[in-house]
Amino acid sequence: MDHQAALASLFLPEGRLDPYPAYDVVRAHAPVFQAFDGRWFVTTHALTSRLLREPSLRVADATDYDAFWPDWRHNRGVASIVLSMLQTNPPDHTRMRRAAAATFTARRVAAMRDVIAGQAEDLIKAMPGSADFMSAFAYPLPVGVICALLGVPEADRAWFRQRAADLTVVLEPISTDEEMRLADVAGRELEAYFTGLIGERRRAPREDLTSALVAARDDDTAGAALTGEELLANLVLLLVAGFETTTNLLGTGIRILLTHPEQADRLRADPDLAPAFVEEILRYDSPVQLTSRFTTSPLDLGDGLRVDSGAELTMLLGSANRDPARYPDPHRFDPDRPNIQPVSFGGGAHYCLGAPLARLEAQVAFPLLLAMLPRLSLAGPAKRRDRLVLRGFAALPVTTG
Ligand code: HEM
Repeated sequence: MDHQAALASLFLPEGRLDPYPAYDVVRAHAPVFQAFDGRWFVTTHALTSRLLREPSLRVADATDYDAFWPDWRHNRGVASIVLSMLQTNPPDHTRMRRAAAATFTARRVAAMRDVIAGQAEDLIKAMPGSADFMSAFAYPLPVGVICALLGVPEADRAWFRQRAADLTVVLEPISTDEEMRLADVAGRELEAYFTGLIGERRRAPREDLTSALVAARDDDTAGAALTGEELLANLVLLLVAGFETTTNLLGTGIRILLTHPEQADRLRADPDLAPAFVEEILRYDSPVQLTSRFTTSPLDLGDGLRVDSGAELTMLLGSANRDPARYPDPHRFDPDRPNIQPVSFGGGAHYCLGAPLARLEAQVAFPLLLAMLPRLSLAGPAKRRDRLVLRGFAALPVTTG
């Protein structure tokens, strides 16, 4: 297979089931190359790390959408993502990120450790002998945690799963008309939900992140005021980003552990190994596989290669994480690697705001699962989600022994 065919295979259902062979082909071809449609793809760890931090690059934002799709605001799934910080550039990005970071503090995240452990223990105790790990644990834990942070009532939590799945399709490079229609419906329903919650918290603030963001919307003394539209979009983003990816990290991670029983035994015996295990799980099968940027001026990509202003650069995070130049024997799961630092949370200005929370959830969950369910094992074929960008399982049958 040549590099163009390997790249094209990533956009097909069979190819994205296991993108790693195709990543090997494109990476062996070049650190960066132009696809037949004009877009550039970055394959190595070194260049991906550099470009994620390159200040002259921008994300596609509302002004870009205005230019190529004047009606984009009518699709509320697309609108809620495009109006959030994820697809905004400075100075608006800086202001939104400041407002969210001021509420999403290290102290607030660290204080969640006991809540996470408590919720994880309850889910493990309630797990039936035969279960779908995704429904029984990987979904409810992160959704419970982000809802606790945002102050979303317990009873509403199950409601989010399908809506988030429908909404995040807008992050995929290719989607059908029907998927876009469902994303619009999900966007409208989530916006209506959070409009209600914002109203409640404005009337009667609590100690939650929604109340803190509402206060940021209403008070500009910190120079971080949000418009009403931005407040809504970023709440939807925090909810959806808060569990879609972490659900995939938990599902992917437990499958890796159960297929590497000698490593699982080590983690069971020594929970202090959890941080290194979680980094290696993130590297080995990243829950987010790619992200794109645009050049704003001609840019030198190394080896004498210069791209014009306005070029689209897609960083293949999953490929960077398996780059043999950075990770010897990259297809081996090895939590003893020194200084793992995968690019799974991105880098630079848009570096994942929730990384400390996602890490904490996984670091608490895996040792607890292994300790409380010593005979946990896979039971039958897993079913992958048909996604390239947000990689994970739709179903993961397990038995608790
Ligand atoms: C951004 C990955 C969990 C909130 C990002 C980006 C990546 C990422 C790669 C950068 C996208 C880009 O550069 O274009 C992940 C992974 C997670 C995870 C792999 C779990 C394993 C979370 C959680 C939250 C969260 C738990 C919130 C509670 C965000 C937000 C952004 C973001 C708000 C946008 C930051 C910005 O644009 O400034 N995430 N994420 N993520 N993530 Fe996460």
